[in-house]
Amino acid sequence: MGSRIQVCLLVISVQILLVAAQMNNLDFAALNALKEIWKNTPLNWVGSDPCGKSGKSWEGIHCTNSRVTSITLASMGLTGQLSGDIQGLSELQTLDLSYNSGLIGSLPQSIGNLTKLSNLILVSCGFSGPIPETIGSLQQLSILSLTSNSFSGPIPPSIGNLSNLYWLDLSGNKLSGTIPVSPGLDMLVNAKHFHCGRNQFSGEIPSQLFNANMSLIHVLFDNNKLNGKIPSTLGLVKTLEILFLSNNQLTGPFPDLTGLNSLNHVDLSNNTFDKTDFPPWVETLRSLETLMMEDTGLQGQIPDAFFSLPLLIKVVLRNNKLNGTLVVNSDSSVHLQLIDLQNNYITDYMVGTRFNSELILVGNPVCEGARGTESHCIIQQSNSSYSIEPKTCMQVTCKSHQISSPNCRCAYPYTGLLILGAPSFNVKNSNIYTSLENYLMRSFQSYQLPVDSVSLSKNPDDSLIILSLEVFPYGVEHFDRTGISGIAFVLSNMTFYPMKPFGPLFFIADPYSYFAGTKKSSSAGIIGVAVGCSLLVLLCLLAGIYAFHQKRRAEISDKQNNPFASWHRNESNGGAPQLKGARCFSFEELKKYTNTFSDANCIGVGGYGKVYRGTLPSEQLVAIKRAKQGSTQGDLEFKSELELLSRVHHKNVVSLVGFCFEQDEQMLVYEYIANGTLKESLSGLLGS
Ligand SMILES: *[C@@H]1O[C@H](CO)[C@@H](O)[C@H](O)[C@H]1NC(C)=O
Repeated sequence: MGSRIQVCLLVISVQILLVAAQMNNLDFAALNALKEIWKNTPLNWVGSDPCGKSGKSWEGIHCTNSRVTSITLASMGLTGQLSGDIQGLSELQTLDLSYNSGLIGSLPQSIGNLTKLSNLILVSCGFSGPIPETIGSLQQLSILSLTSNSFSGPIPPSIGNLSNLYWLDLSGNKLSGTIPVSPGLDMLVNAKHFHCGRNQFSGEIPSQLFNANMSLIHVLFDNNKLNGKIPSTLGLVKTLEILFLSNNQLTGPFPDLTGLNSLNHVDLSNNTFDKTDFPPWVETLRSLETLMMEDTGLQGQIPDAFFSLPLLIKVVLRNNKLNGTLVVNSDSSVHLQLIDLQNNYITDYMVGTRFNSELILVGNPVCEGARGTESHCIIQQSNSSYSIEPKTCMQVTCKSHQISSPNCRCAYPYTGLLILGAPSFNVKNSNIYTSLENYLMRSFQSYQLPVDSVSLSKNPDDSLIILSLEVFPYGVEHFDRTGISGIAFVLSNMTFYPMKPFGPLFFIADPYSYFAGTKKSSSAGIIGVAVGCSLLVLLCLLAGIYAFHQKRRAEISDKQNNPFASWHRNESNGGAPQLKGARCFSFEELKKYTNTFSDANCIGVGGYGKVYRGTLPSEQLVAIKRAKQGSTQGDLEFKSELELLSRVHHKNVVSLVGFCFEQDEQMLVYEYIANGTLKESLSGLLGS
């Protein structure tokens, strides 16, 4: 008996093993087939084991128990089609092929066989054709993001079967037809995001679309061809935070949204609603930050109490028939930035004494005649030209296509546009950009991605908040494929998990074509050169340290750590500083040249510290930037700045004469130049 059971078990386990092996082969066959059709697959896609038993799997492939569970190949420059072969990857949970605009053709029906799939992310690819109705078989799907492709045809009603769906993003396609319900979107009670803007959906918004069981926070159907009235059932979705229905052909009265206490951002602009008085329920929306109702048939007076909503930031009610006297009391929201009432019938206005936000009344009777010159009757241009303070990195000349990083290193950054989802985000507050940069850095670090720094800059654009993002590689000039797809994955995840106060971040990547180590031989060559350079640096360094040491020994008995020695020890900060003709001053020397840092010699003060004028024994005038206690930079930053400045000899830039680094002091000694230019240069220096 016992032995029979044993034999039986043996047979079963052999069968299990066989099945496992067979499945493995299927994974391999599927990937191999994709590799055949796709161009630009990672170079290490060779051999017969994508999961890499030795621990080195194919780039972009992750395995669990020797089965392929994740493919993340965002921004790889892939071209070709997504063929039905993908169905062989039956354990696949994540498929992210975003930002490969060369991936074209339709999605295969057989994608419905990937029953373990939970993330399907195809942002900004070149896919077209219908969304296959088999998508409804992906019971585990929680993120479906097909945004910015060319998908056409209707939303398949089977999508209603995706009971685990959290994120539905179909925006920016050519989808058409009516919004499907029962079966359809109304069944997605766990979904928080319906992003369906910028398509060609038509017909009425079905009243079944919304019900009290839903947990939606974003409902975006802007820029479609929807008509009819907004169903009153919308008022049942108490979780709603963002509602965008602008640029449709909606009619009828507005629904009553009283009780939507989480609603932050509402945009109903450019529809053909009935002429209506300013809706009374708007005043009850305690969380409201943005109200956009441009060209929506609004008439009558805006109630004074509306501007007292505590979180209100931005109100755009252009091209309506609002009339009477506009009153913005002193108890209005302290966050208010903009009230845009262009082209209405406002005849007068009264604003509280503390009111200092932008109010635009151009095109109202109040601006006719003599009052036309008042500031509210003129559109100020200054707004859109706001830009983030330039980084203090001065004229570094980089090779073509390379860009200087915030740490002043030339490299090939990964770049793209970052679109912020919170429409009332305060674009004038530059701290916000810094904290966004820090947030991005922390996110990259938490995924252990080789990122050195990130840099954001604001594109002048009024309606959306679009930032240019540059992500710089750490310690090298190029990212490799793993780095790029990892960064793209993190950035696309920020879309799905909105972070206050930034809201969802939507990233549009530029193609990256500077991958490192494209050829084995060349990367070996680079290593060779790198080793050679390090030796050279080491030699220079030893000489430098020797000279430095001698000098210091002569002058100071109480010695501190030699900063260059510590740079030498710690390779991670890039080795020794390379200084061109900059000399090292002692603290005592600089003290003497500035009359003991007297106030009379102080010519500028900034966050960093003070700048003093000094005279060297050679009679040369110098400007000495002295970091105040507590704001000294880390060794690395100080060294970078030193290196940079010592290389800069441009007519409009002050050049570095020397530096001092001792007794907790960090000082940089610059050429002193005449007034006008000095001011500019100083403001640059003090900015750091
Ligand atoms: C409304 O339509 C006008 C004209 O097409 C457009 O310029 C404006 O940006 C639209 N407003 C919104 C909020 O979409």
